[in-house]
Amino acid sequence: MRAAVVRRPADENHLEVADLPDPGDPRPGEVRVRVHASALNCHDNIVMADPATAVGHIPLADGAGVVEAVGDGVTELSPGDSVVARFFPAWQAGSPVTDHFGTTPGIGLPGYAREVLVAPATQFSRAPRGYSHIESATLTVAGLTAWSALMGGGGIKPGDTVVLLGTGGVSMFALQFAKLAGATAIVTSSSDHKLERARALGADYVLNYRTVPNWGDHIHQWTAGGADLVLAVGGPSTLPQSIRAVRIGGQIAMIGVLTGVSGELATGEIDTKQLRLRGVLAGNRQQQQEMIRAIEASDIRPAIDRTFPLEELGQALGHFTSGAHFGKVVIEI
Ligand SMILES: NC(=O)c1ccc[n+]([C@@H]2O[C@H](COP(=O)([O-])OP(=O)(O)OC[C@H]3O[C@@H](n4cnc5c(N)ncnc54)[C@H](OP(=O)(O)O)[C@@H]3O)[C@@H](O)[C@H]2O)c1
Repeated sequence: MRAAVVRRPADENHLEVADLPDPGDPRPGEVRVRVHASALNCHDNIVMADPATAVGHIPLADGAGVVEAVGDGVTELSPGDSVVARFFPAWQAGSPVTDHFGTTPGIGLPGYAREVLVAPATQFSRAPRGYSHIESATLTVAGLTAWSALMGGGGIKPGDTVVLLGTGGVSMFALQFAKLAGATAIVTSSSDHKLERARALGADYVLNYRTVPNWGDHIHQWTAGGADLVLAVGGPSTLPQSIRAVRIGGQIAMIGVLTGVSGELATGEIDTKQLRLRGVLAGNRQQQQEMIRAIEASDIRPAIDRTFPLEELGQALGHFTSGAHFGKVVIEI
């Protein structure tokens, strides 16, 4: 059984594809899954660059494949089912239950950069009908995060306006979910070419955040008073413009840390505009299943930039961190 394992955390040659023992048959409550695809997320690099990451750790939190066998007591899944991995296996529904990644495959537990695994059935849901494994693999993190940012916390309504920063995995899913929900979608990017692609995916208004650094003011003007919701994947440096972009009483979904995890913020405008800042961390099983139902009822397909074989995971991570991608970078296994 081939797997990519962390050999030297924090070293540039930190990864190796190794032959590991087959995990065998599932025990009660477990499933044996043949993994066919995974996809990359920003945290994968952080995990591999962390000196605290164990030697031998199998990375990647996104996963999709086929159930080969089920253990006693597993009723939700059957051999032959196409499945997609869940980010928080223990979070079924309702309010968040954890503020750490100790139980997340690919971070605290072994992940999906491998051919086969035996794991609790709760780690998987049925994949959307008609999706390839490559497409399903993009749903674990980026798809679900976009879905819960838009639909959680009261949710958007038809006619609302949402702002999506950059053309990465989360934002390009959010663009498609927002259009499905009847919202107006605004997309920013550093690249005019990527903005054209976002327009082709349904964006109603686009802005280059490099050439228009005060993009929040432009959005405020274009929307005649501000957007209803901003999906803030940018972190502290982009938050002031996100606050400019949103309307009085609007909402900012705090998702990403592209410009770091801390910074100074003038909070006055949050009070005066009576904004709601809501932290979003992936989502729960119920939200994942709602997202899958919505996908099956629509023609939404993930924006996939490129696929790489497992052996080229290092190159794939290099391509991902270069920022050249549009949407998701996927690993075929
Ligand atoms: N909270 C959660 O559950 C959760 C889940 C997934 C991801 N995240 C976080 O959300 C962020 C985005 O994730 P992702 O998977 O969508 O990443 P991604 O696919 O790498 O996309 C990031 C994109 O954001 C844009 N960008 C980069 N720097 C920017 C800046 N300073 N200002 C505005 N846009 C910028 C770039 O788009 P252009 O090339 O178009 O400029 C880049 O391609 C990351 O910080 C990630 O860790 C959080």
